[in-house]
Amino acid sequence: MADIPIVAAGSAEIASADVNVEPAQLLARYLRPGTLNLAALPPMSLYVHLPWCLRKCPYCDFNSHEHRSSAANELPEARYLDALRCDLEAALPFIWGRRIHTVFIGGGTPSLFTPDSIGQLIADIRARLPLEPGCEITLEANPGTFERDRFRAYRAAGVTRLSIGVQSFDDAKLAALGRVHDSAQARAAVAEASEAFETFNLDLMYALPGQTLPELEADIATALSFKPPHLSIYHLTIEPNTLFAKHPPAGRLALPDDDIAFDMLDVITQRSEDAGLSRYEVSAFARAAHRCAHNLNYWQFGDYLGIGAGAHSKISFAHRVVRQTRFREPARYMDNALAGHALAQDEDVRRADLAFEFMLNALRLKGGFALQDFSERTGQSVASIAQALGEAEAKGLITRDMVQVRPTERGFDFLSDLQALFLPA
Ligand SMILES: C[S@@+](CC[C@H](N)C(=O)[O-])C[C@H]1O[C@@H](n2cnc3c(N)ncnc32)[C@H](O)[C@@H]1O
Ligand code: SF4
Repeated sequence: MADIPIVAAGSAEIASADVNVEPAQLLARYLRPGTLNLAALPPMSLYVHLPWCLRKCPYCDFNSHEHRSSAANELPEARYLDALRCDLEAALPFIWGRRIHTVFIGGGTPSLFTPDSIGQLIADIRARLPLEPGCEITLEANPGTFERDRFRAYRAAGVTRLSIGVQSFDDAKLAALGRVHDSAQARAAVAEASEAFETFNLDLMYALPGQTLPELEADIATALSFKPPHLSIYHLTIEPNTLFAKHPPAGRLALPDDDIAFDMLDVITQRSEDAGLSRYEVSAFARAAHRCAHNLNYWQFGDYLGIGAGAHSKISFAHRVVRQTRFREPARYMDNALAGHALAQDEDVRRADLAFEFMLNALRLKGGFALQDFSERTGQSVASIAQALGEAEAKGLITRDMVQVRPTERGFDFLSDLQALFLPA
């Protein structure tokens, strides 16, 4: 998955008065003097959101909308691509001259779009933005049969990396999660991805309804048997406003308690490391040279332009860091984007929140962060976090030298406590 860049709740300083203005006027606002002086701008990525799924999973709070295709109700692929093109063109002034390091096409279920549409999307992006040579272009795919038949064509269309939402290889667990695919389809999809792509990711979840440790062990063993270059493994969380929040799995499907979930994570980490996949982020494991460059840019507090329904952007300017949000509901997004106004909201990140936001992301990385990146990307001096760093070190949550700060094993286990040390006073 494209990991969601983590943002502190309520960190906005200036909710924009009006984003419904010409891009040139917005840009003038972004360029005016502000509370920061950034010495350099971080790498820039592009995220593209395709918001439809065949069915809404009961645990999912992503901006995904059920679409049951029929002859009379086809996915509006062409119109959505037009909207994305207008959205991108209106956003170009904000990122003028900046090269794109990675592209991530996420969802929803992007593999509902035909390979021709994905090829068109990539061509539209390439025609408007300078992509770094060898730019990673990831597409999220579900493991259904008709999606699997498209994998090679996505590769031919320019996708360089596939991320497959497997979740589990156990039919009973897949049913409890309300997934539309079964285990046989998941296995066939992973086998096909490993033939069609040089690099790919598997998304799995653990602490599933009624899951036991042996069941988790079987799932991880199956996943590793495909020798995936990258694994993302998430603890199933019950998110507000989901069906599971209203009707939590109960009885024999009750969720495992925290102690069991901890044991499960230990097993996942051990088995993955034994198989040559190292844990480089809280939820991410990879072989050498197969880390996800797109997610790494999020975790390193890089910039990203997000286009598509409900997409989020973080864009640094000389004197501010701006967050933007697009309209969430697909029909409304398309109408507005086609009229040149895809933005629903923007805001400056408060200067006081920048250090905490940086830590919410950077401390998720095993390798931690360079102190120079902290200063460059937040506009704050290292002295401003000296006390919090000292406290974290004294508690055994980080190690550091003059250049780099790294979370320890203990820091990883108590990550929210570690991050909380950097909350604004
Ligand atoms: C936005 S989904 C997109 C992938 C694709 N649509 C799918 O579901 O297979 C990205 C990933 O987020 C993870 N995810 C979604 N909801 C979650 C939840 N409530 N708890 C933990 N992980 C979750 C799943 O592993 C999923 O593959
Ligand atoms: S398929 Fe993925 S994005 Fe769609 S509802 Fe399920 S978890 Fe969410």
